Amino acid sequence: MKRIAIIFILFSFSVSAQYTDINIVKEVKVKNKGVVVSAHPLASEAGAKILRMGGNAYDAIIATQYALAVVYPQAGNIGGGGFLVGVKSNGETFTIDYRETAPKKATRDMYLDKTGKVNTDLSQNGRLAVGIPGSVAGFFATLKHGKLPMEKIIQPAIDIAEKGFAITEQEANLLNSHKVNFQKHNQTSTVFVKNTPWKAGDLLVQKELAETLKLIQKSGAKGFYEGKTAELLVSEMKKGNGIITPEDLKNYKVAERKALEFDYKGNHIVSMPLPSSGGILLAQMLRMSSYENLEKYQQNSTQAVQIMTEAERRAFADRAEYMGDPDFIQDKTSYLISDEYLKSRWKSFSFNKATPSSEVGKIIKQPKESTETTHISVIDKDGNAAAVTTTLNGLYGSKVVVSGAGFFLNNEMDDFSVKPGVPNMFGAVGGEANSIQPNKRMLSSMTPTIVLKDQRPYMIVGTPGGTTIPTSVYQSIVDVIDFKLNANISVNAPKFHHQWLPETVAFEKNFPETTIKELEKLGYKAEKWGQIGRTEMILIDDNGNIHAVADGRGDDSVAVE
Ligand code: DON
Repeated sequence: MKRIAIIFILFSFSVSAQYTDINIVKEVKVKNKGVVVSAHPLASEAGAKILRMGGNAYDAIIATQYALAVVYPQAGNIGGGGFLVGVKSNGETFTIDYRETAPKKATRDMYLDKTGKVNTDLSQNGRLAVGIPGSVAGFFATLKHGKLPMEKIIQPAIDIAEKGFAITEQEANLLNSHKVNFQKHNQTSTVFVKNTPWKAGDLLVQKELAETLKLIQKSGAKGFYEGKTAELLVSEMKKGNGIITPEDLKNYKVAERKALEFDYKGNHIVSMPLPSSGGILLAQMLRMSSYENLEKYQQNSTQAVQIMTEAERRAFADRAEYMGDPDFIQDKTSYLISDEYLKSRWKSFSFNKATPSSEVGKIIKQPKESTETTHISVIDKDGNAAAVTTTLNGLYGSKVVVSGAGFFLNNEMDDFSVKPGVPNMFGAVGGEANSIQPNKRMLSSMTPTIVLKDQRPYMIVGTPGGTTIPTSVYQSIVDVIDFKLNANISVNAPKFHHQWLPETVAFEKNFPETTIKELEKLGYKAEKWGQIGRTEMILIDDNGNIHAVADGRGDDSVAVE
């Protein structure tokens, strides 16, 4: 079959020197070649370069993550953590959990004052908010599925950090809006703060980060978890209220977990198990909405949104009650995703009116919005597929940059339930299952997912967006499987979100008004949000044609081998 390569270049600009040509490619159709979709064109290109050098999807996704740590510092990271879901060309499925863990000195009530009141500033900003970073350990765990040595895979990121790259307008705006926070949380100057405002095309050079990456290149994971980088990280902790010790870093371990797998309308879905709630929520929502034959309706129609909102409500009530780190709690996954349980959960659904959240779970308190994380989807020419969602949690994490090492530290501790019933920065409430304990992983919503058809990858998908992650991935899958829409429409159509608490349903700003009005008549409380998610999707049809789409909401971009 003839190979087609349609590339829509939405815009590009250039200044002089290397890494100043930023071409954003939103959509690619190709065959017999690998593709990488990520939040930044240079990061996608770093992955594609590794594919061209003979690397496979797992090598490429490591290279892309390192590059994101350089070119997308708001979420790409070596100071955070993530999850990888993989399906190999031989059908083997696997996951790597490199979620952050609570430091050994962490305690259940560490963010409460003497009167028991929560100080979310401490769980969200500064040194006490930081969990033990897992990303670098995760990259080394991924390496055993790859073909190339780490020295080569990390090189593109080192080059970009050393030589600098031209920032886009979105990046300039974001850096400018965080200047005060960067100054507040860092005692020494960082490359992220300039006297004059950042503008599109400015070069961001990160020499310290390049040195850190070189240490990893030279000494492996020890180049991060021991030696100079670890010393710098621990001394950064001591400049404030940080509690991470050298032992915490040395003892960090990834967890290689069996993927959460289930069937959906003739497809097989492979997603992330606990400590991400993502896979469980996805299974619960897809199964509950299948009881109403969702495929009869249309994307974003009143009935479809009502069914899906009610599925989201019930799933998120379960998230708050039952989900946490499976190494610390009793894992109830198989019951929670069983038809026996879900059918009884669905009995209270009615097309006549909204189900009050109080009727589907224990009512606790109120929530809020989303910030940053990032997703990467990759397939190589042999059919190996990889999906990674990785995060610092909030935009630029804790806002703390490790002085001398040049990277942001996460504020992932806020993903724990800092006090039962008190919402985190995404409004998610939780209880005992997600309480803080030393070495425990905080519950996540990240949902890197691969859908298989006839045992071969059919869809590789994921998104950032805090608690909107599982609901956006849910919509992406339903759009393609139930509503038979293409990848572009699925990624870029307006999204909606409900998470049990608050009672409101959030709609992206361009969501069809008629649907919102009809839902309001049924008792749904609507709220308008700016953007929901940044989905990176790859669809592979029965003939092996690959259709890759990078979300139009940001600088997200596709690169081809
Ligand atoms: O693990 C989680 O669920 C969150 N820390 C993810 C944060 C996130 O997606 C922010 N992005 N927009």
